[in-house]
Amino acid sequence: LGKDSTENYVEVDDLEKVPQSEQKKWEKDQMASAVFKFGAKDAKSRDDYELLLEDQIEFIQALKLPGTKEKKEPQLTEVEKKIMDIEECKKSLPIFPFRDEFINAVRENQVLIIEGETGSGKTTQIPQYLHEAGFTEDSKKIGCTQPRRVAAMSVAARVAQEMRVKLGNEVGYAIRFEDCTSERTVIKYMTDGTLHREFLSEPDLQSYSVMIIDEAHERTLHTDILFGLVKDIARFRPDLKLLISSATLDAQKFSEFFDGAPIFRIPGRRFPVDIYYTKAPEADYIDACVVSVLQIHATQPLGDILVFLTGQEEIETCQELLTDRVRRLGSKVKELLILPVYANLPSDMQAKIFEPTPPGARKVVLATNIAETSLTIDNIIYVIDPGFAKQNHFNSRTGMESLMVVPISKASANQRAGRAGRVAAGKCFRLYTAWSYKHELEDNTVPEIQRINLGNAVLMLKALGINDLVHFDFLDPPPHETLVLALEQLYALGALNHHGELTKLGRRMAEFPVDPMMAKMILASEKYKCSEEIVSIGAMLSVNGAIFYRPKDKIIHADTARKNFNHPGGDHLSLLNVYNQWKDSDYSTQWCYENFIQYRSMKRARDVREQLVGLMQRVEIEMVSNVSETVDIRKSITAGYFYHIARLSKGGNYKTVKHNQSVTIHPNSALFEELPRWLLYHELVFTTKEFMRQVVEIESKWLLEVAPHYYKQKELEDPTNKKMPKTVGRSTRTE
Ligand code: CDP
Ligand code: MG
Repeated sequence: LGKDSTENYVEVDDLEKVPQSEQKKWEKDQMASAVFKFGAKDAKSRDDYELLLEDQIEFIQALKLPGTKEKKEPQLTEVEKKIMDIEECKKSLPIFPFRDEFINAVRENQVLIIEGETGSGKTTQIPQYLHEAGFTEDSKKIGCTQPRRVAAMSVAARVAQEMRVKLGNEVGYAIRFEDCTSERTVIKYMTDGTLHREFLSEPDLQSYSVMIIDEAHERTLHTDILFGLVKDIARFRPDLKLLISSATLDAQKFSEFFDGAPIFRIPGRRFPVDIYYTKAPEADYIDACVVSVLQIHATQPLGDILVFLTGQEEIETCQELLTDRVRRLGSKVKELLILPVYANLPSDMQAKIFEPTPPGARKVVLATNIAETSLTIDNIIYVIDPGFAKQNHFNSRTGMESLMVVPISKASANQRAGRAGRVAAGKCFRLYTAWSYKHELEDNTVPEIQRINLGNAVLMLKALGINDLVHFDFLDPPPHETLVLALEQLYALGALNHHGELTKLGRRMAEFPVDPMMAKMILASEKYKCSEEIVSIGAMLSVNGAIFYRPKDKIIHADTARKNFNHPGGDHLSLLNVYNQWKDSDYSTQWCYENFIQYRSMKRARDVREQLVGLMQRVEIEMVSNVSETVDIRKSITAGYFYHIARLSKGGNYKTVKHNQSVTIHPNSALFEELPRWLLYHELVFTTKEFMRQVVEIESKWLLEVAPHYYKQKELEDPTNKKMPKTVGRSTRTE
């Protein structure tokens, strides 16, 4: 049956073999029959479909598909078993047979490019091999950068476990606002942003003997800048070993950039993966994911499923839908473990995805892009790929930055498919058409440096004394206009003088591991005497997890609770309310529970706040509180975020001041029904339209006070300074 149900699918290899001339005919014949949804063509509604599915499951049970055979384990204690498992696991990795060859290559070359399929053991094994080979003698460390926080933490935890040490001792990690290392640390995983920042305090990386720039193919902004920085350092630190490690075929490019450094290839072990496409584009890919998971679960032999979604919200929705449907199917289906993984997931939950699936059951992992290359989950046989990812986009013409869900590239799609072929032959279900794959997806993902705001990066480089950015050694240079815009923005913020040199303010801003606008907001609180309030707001804004908890069965209670925190001045002040009240409750868990607030996010906000306060002391800003009114707090915010200003226009819509772009208040905002004339937004999020998330009401004249070189009186002229009347029909929340 498993075979029958897949016979109609179109395979990518077939697709590639089809000559152009026959493409049209081929599409007609083949694609029409490529029905992905088993029986879906007969189903008129979702209920129909579920009925079909139930029939199908009964049928399968009648066939009695074989489960996994239970192995007879020798009698060992749990700990012994675990150690044995780990030792065996290490030896089974593709990199293991090349251990000595690899160490020799490192000894003989200062710079080495490493290329190997995801899961070959690069991230977890290489630092250990180097440590065992003596590279950590003379109290020097091995550093390894990761583009993602979750990866840095989870990989460090794994390696600590493999080396049987406590995380934070010999093996540790450092991510923004969190340093889990100690004097004893010899293997240090960190985000690329963290290493970038470490250059400020240790420009020659003196405490490291080896630096590994891992997941280089991801081409994040920080990784790209690190390439230039480490290349430079390697010239005057001949004792420093530099490893550039990547999963895909960029190795040649890296080698050329690093003056022809040799490439060390770890032969891949990859089983074939059959690729299937949908017949027609999917209108609702979340639903399509749920349906596909259930189909696989019902029709395919055991083996775990990996689903790629774009973010926490989608993952939670998908998880709820799946849980609900599995429950309704009851004992008709085998056990299905549903496990999410995304950046803000607590680490004990993250650890769950690596636990082996119990015999006879199936695991489905709902993951963000993180599972594409940074994390390897064993035993994945099926991959479901809706073809989307969240990406930061910056429009240098309008100066607007927003987070958007965009189609992935062919390279990404193939990486995702590859996740299915690590342990056995696998299957990848693409929830888009073969035509889309071929004609609509770009070949490669555009490196971040070419599509995001460079303000932060430029400030950091200036702080490192690199003044001539045009001639900086970039692997791929950023667009000229983006660079110029970043310089202009930093100038407007007061971080650079008109020669493009760092000012005293700029130097202080660079101390903060936040974007320049937030750094400026924090520093401005000195003048407006409200540093206590501003750091709380800054900390709350930096927690990129949700603060408010909104369980489906208690939406009304949750929304009422949320409204109690609303401040008429705007969301920043509502967040401040939340923080202060939580503090008054003595940081109580119970309080969070009663008020539908996520305790974990609050705890993180408190940690972030503490770090920010520490940094404020370093730049000698006194902590003072301003409780009388909110004008000064809002002025401080404006001093940082004066680019993010929108003015009310017709019909309750907003237009950004400088570029006249249409933007809308997010329905979750305290000001959603208020419509003040002037608004400052924290960020733009593009979903159905461009939404402003976290808005605060301001007065236009403040702009002249905080950014006189950016705003002119004329563009801020405003005949009526009253609020617009509330529009009818906007009182129902849509989310
Ligand atoms: O870096 P690369 O993709 O080459 O591989 P890796 O991340 O070093 O992973 C090697 C192995 O370690 C895989 O089999 C993973 O499943 C395992 N691993 C794990 O069990 N837990 C982690 N947190 C990370 C890796
Ligand atoms: Mg890796």
